[in-house]
Amino acid sequence: MILYNEKFVTDDTIIQIEDRGYQFGDGVYEVIRIYNGKCFELDNHLERMVSSARKIKLSLPYSIFEIKKNLMELVNKEEILDGKIYIQITRGKSVRKHHLPKEPSPILIAYVEELPRPFKKIQNGVNAILSEDIRWTRCDIKSLNLLGNVLLKQEAKDNNCEEAILHRNKIITEGSSTNVFIVKNSKIQTHPENNFILNGITRQKIINIAHNNNFIISEEAFTIEELLNADEVFITSTTLELIPIIKVDNKVIGNGFPGTTTQKFQNIFNEEISKI
Ligand code: PDD
Repeated sequence: MILYNEKFVTDDTIIQIEDRGYQFGDGVYEVIRIYNGKCFELDNHLERMVSSARKIKLSLPYSIFEIKKNLMELVNKEEILDGKIYIQITRGKSVRKHHLPKEPSPILIAYVEELPRPFKKIQNGVNAILSEDIRWTRCDIKSLNLLGNVLLKQEAKDNNCEEAILHRNKIITEGSSTNVFIVKNSKIQTHPENNFILNGITRQKIINIAHNNNFIISEEAFTIEELLNADEVFITSTTLELIPIIKVDNKVIGNGFPGTTTQKFQNIFNEEISKI
């Protein structure tokens, strides 16, 4: 079942070749977690979608109230317990010219998919590679243009790794589809919120958890060297949750096992999930 604008349809051949999302990647998207049949952090995702849309001068075709209502109906119809919602809004169909159409007709599509929780990765950790951040400088926008991220994720896969941890001028920004945290002497650090990273909803959740539980956390950039010498490294995202990184470019991080601070965050995060 697909939410197409405000209708629920079953036909997925509705995409038009002159949709600007298809031709230019001209649109925004969100991935929202479903736990136990309920949406996790839905309001924050929708708020970020509004903000991304505003940054690309895209007026949303429906109110957030309507979109939220329809997404919840979609989740109920599909009866999925652990899953995700994918929602995208493109600038819609118009004659292929780069500049923005005068009277755009945006297209919203959303669907729900089953997605088991990544327990094995959560427990054992994963490996990562370091890659140069080849993306544009508006990574704060959750835009449909993901080719940079796609190529970087493939580079990780080609090296038998889960994630590519990205750097610009020796500063770590984020992962190809995750945010990155380090822990050194119990202090947690992550790149500040700016145009070089996506301000992850999971990232924001971790920062809140840290503040509410008396962890020392700072949104301060760190270098490749600091990453490699950290006691613990972990990545966060809606789909991966909170995953320890145990090796970067084949260098063992800390003692090579998921660290205690990371595990404390995982436990608190689990409690948050069980509360929804
Ligand atoms: N990716 N950074 C990038 C570049 C991302 O693509 C994502 C999410 C994140 C983490 O954001 P959040 O915690 O809000 O999921 C950080 C999604 C899951 C995706 O594209 O599939």
